[in-house]
Amino acid sequence: MRIRTFEDYQEQYKKSVDDPEGFWGEVAQEFEWKKPWTKVLDWNFEEPNVKWFVGGKLNITENTLDRHVRERPNQPAIVWEPNEKEDESVTITYKVLHERVSRFANVLKGHGVEKSDRICIYMPMIPELAIAVLACARIGAIHSVVFGGFSAKSIADRVNDANCKMIITTDGAFRGQKKIPMKETVDDALIGCPTVEKVIVATRTRTPISMIKGRDYWWEEEVKKVSADCPATEMDSEDPLFILYTSGSTGKPKGVVHTCGGYMVYSTYSFQNVFQYDPGDVYFCTADIGWITGHSYIIYGPLAAGATSIMFEGVPTYPDAGRFWDIVERHKVNIFYTAPTAIRSLMGFGKEFWENKDLSSLKVLGSVGEPINEEAWHWYNDNIGKGNCTICDSWWQTETGGIMISPLANITPTKPTFATLPLPGVQPELVDEKGEVIEGNGVNGNLVIKFPWPSIIRTTWGDHDRCKQVYFSTYKHKYFTGDGCMRDEDGYYRITGRVDDVINVSGHRIGTAEVEDALNSHTGVVESAVVGYPHDIKGQGIFAYIIMESQVHEEDLMKRDILATVTRIIGPIAKPDQILFVSGLPKTRSGKIMRRILRKIAEGDVSSLGDTSTLLDPSVVEEIKEKAGL
Ligand code: WT7
Repeated sequence: MRIRTFEDYQEQYKKSVDDPEGFWGEVAQEFEWKKPWTKVLDWNFEEPNVKWFVGGKLNITENTLDRHVRERPNQPAIVWEPNEKEDESVTITYKVLHERVSRFANVLKGHGVEKSDRICIYMPMIPELAIAVLACARIGAIHSVVFGGFSAKSIADRVNDANCKMIITTDGAFRGQKKIPMKETVDDALIGCPTVEKVIVATRTRTPISMIKGRDYWWEEEVKKVSADCPATEMDSEDPLFILYTSGSTGKPKGVVHTCGGYMVYSTYSFQNVFQYDPGDVYFCTADIGWITGHSYIIYGPLAAGATSIMFEGVPTYPDAGRFWDIVERHKVNIFYTAPTAIRSLMGFGKEFWENKDLSSLKVLGSVGEPINEEAWHWYNDNIGKGNCTICDSWWQTETGGIMISPLANITPTKPTFATLPLPGVQPELVDEKGEVIEGNGVNGNLVIKFPWPSIIRTTWGDHDRCKQVYFSTYKHKYFTGDGCMRDEDGYYRITGRVDDVINVSGHRIGTAEVEDALNSHTGVVESAVVGYPHDIKGQGIFAYIIMESQVHEEDLMKRDILATVTRIIGPIAKPDQILFVSGLPKTRSGKIMRRILRKIAEGDVSSLGDTSTLLDPSVVEEIKEKAGL
C-alpha cells in the first residue's frame, strides 16, 4: 500500500473515504495475523465504541521482530547512540533484538506478569527501554511508559491510576552533563503505590541505590536465568497494547488507551508513507520514548516496517549544538524527525555546528509537536535539507496514535508552516463554535475528525465517560482534537494551536489546571492562574499569576521555592517561565477567570484587552498591567 506518486495519494485517499473497510482491509493484509478478522470496522462515536479488525488475532512483536528475523536477521533494528559522543554506538540487529526481547519477556513471566497486567516503565533512552516495551507486548502485558523527566508523584499517580503490578527502571540516567537519579525517584513513588510487587532495575550509571529483597531485581542478573525463547501471546485486535498519559484542560492526566491491531496497522502505514521509507534507509527520530512520538515512530512503526531506527540517549546541545548533525553524519541518516523547539534552539548557534558536517545522506526532514514557524521551517529546509529534502510538518496527537495530516515526502507539494493534506483514512473537518461545519476553502475553525481511523483512541483508562466527554461530546458524532486550524485556498491545513486550556511547551502538552493545582499546593499561595504565551524557543512558555496570603518580601526566593514545589509535584517541564504576584485575578461575576485578558498581558499586548466591563472588579486589570510593567 505504498504511495509513490501524488496520483496514488489521491486515488488511495478517495478509496479510503468511499470504502474505508475495503481500503484498510487491504492494508492490514500486509501484516501477519494469527487469525484473520471477521469485520474490518465496527463503530459509533456516541458511546464511543470503535473496533477495528474485529475478531482478528495477532501479536505486534511478531510483526516488528519475528517477521524480520526471517527476512533480514542481520539488519540493524536499533542503533543506539549514547550520551557521550566519544562512546561507541551499539547496533542491535533484528535477530539480537528478538532474542533480547524474548529473554526479558521470560523474566517478566517469571515474576508473575500475565496478559493484561499493567507495567510501568520509567527509563532513560537506552536499548533496554525499547526491549522492555516490546517484551510487555510479547506477553500481552499493557505498558505504561512514564517520561523520565516526571516526578515521583507523577509516577505514583500514573501507577495507581492503572494499578500497575511492576515498575521497570534504571539506577540512573545520563542526559548531557547531568546524571539523574531514576531508581531513587521510583523509590519515592513507591511509598504510595500499593499495587507494585516488583521492580526491575537495569544498570546504566551504576549510581548507588537501595535494592529491597523480594521486591527489587537487577535486569542483568534476571536475564541470565531465563531462556531466549518466548512464544508470542495471542492478542485480540482490540486488546489494549498500551496506556500513555497525557494532559488535558482539566484535572489529572488521562490514560490514553491504544489497542493492538489498529495501532499496528496505522503506525506502520503512516511511517512508510509519510517518510517514504525504503528498505535500507536509516531513520532517526529524536523524540523520547516517553511520548507518543517515540512509541509510534521510534519503536512500533519503524520496526514493523523493518527499518533501522536510531535511538539517542542524550540532548541536542551536548557536547555541543552540532550533536544531531554528528549523528546524521556518523550513521548516514536518510530520514530525520524532530520538533520545532529543537530546530529553534539549534538555529541560535553558529554555522560551525552544521556547515561542515556531511548531511548529504538526508532525504526527508520531519517536524512534529507544535506549529513550526516560518523562520524555523526555512532554516531547517535551507541549512539542514540544503533545499533537497521534503519538510514533513506532521500533525497528530497522543490520541490519534499516528500522523494524521502531513506531506508525504517528495510527493505532496509543501508550503512553509502547513501540515498540508490528510493521510488516506483521515477525514478532517472545520467547525465553528456552534458545531456547524465550515465548508469551502480559505476558512478557519476548530479541527474535528468525522470518521474513525485505525489508531484512534479507544478509551481513557478506567474512565470511559471521560473519553466520551473530552473527545466526543463537544461536537456531536465527531472526534474533537482541541486544535484550531485554517484551511487555505488550496485546501491545505495549517494547525494554529490549542483552543483549550492546554499549553504546548517545547512540543509537550501541559494542562493549565495541573500547573495551577501544583502552585496552589505551595504554602502561602491563595490562588493562581496559568496561561501560555509566545516563547522564542519553547513555542509557548508558562506564565503564572499568583495571589499570596501575605505580601512577598523576597520575591526571587519565593519564586524559587514555588518552582521547587512544581518540580516536586509534576516535574521540571511544568515549571512556569514567569511568575507575577498579584492581589487579584480578573473574574467574571460568576467567578470564572478571564484567561483571555491574562493571555494578552502575558504576551505584553494590552492594546486590545477587549471588554472588561463584565468583570467583577475591572480595577484588578489595571493593577496586573502595572505589575507586569505594561
Ligand atoms: C498536540 C498533541 C503527536 C506528536 C507529539 C505531540 C500539537 C502536534 C503539530 C504540528 C501544529 C502540532 C497540537 C496537538 N501539534 N503536531 N505539526 N503542527 N501543532 O503529541 O503531546 O499528544 O500533543 O500537539 O496542538 O493537539 P501530544
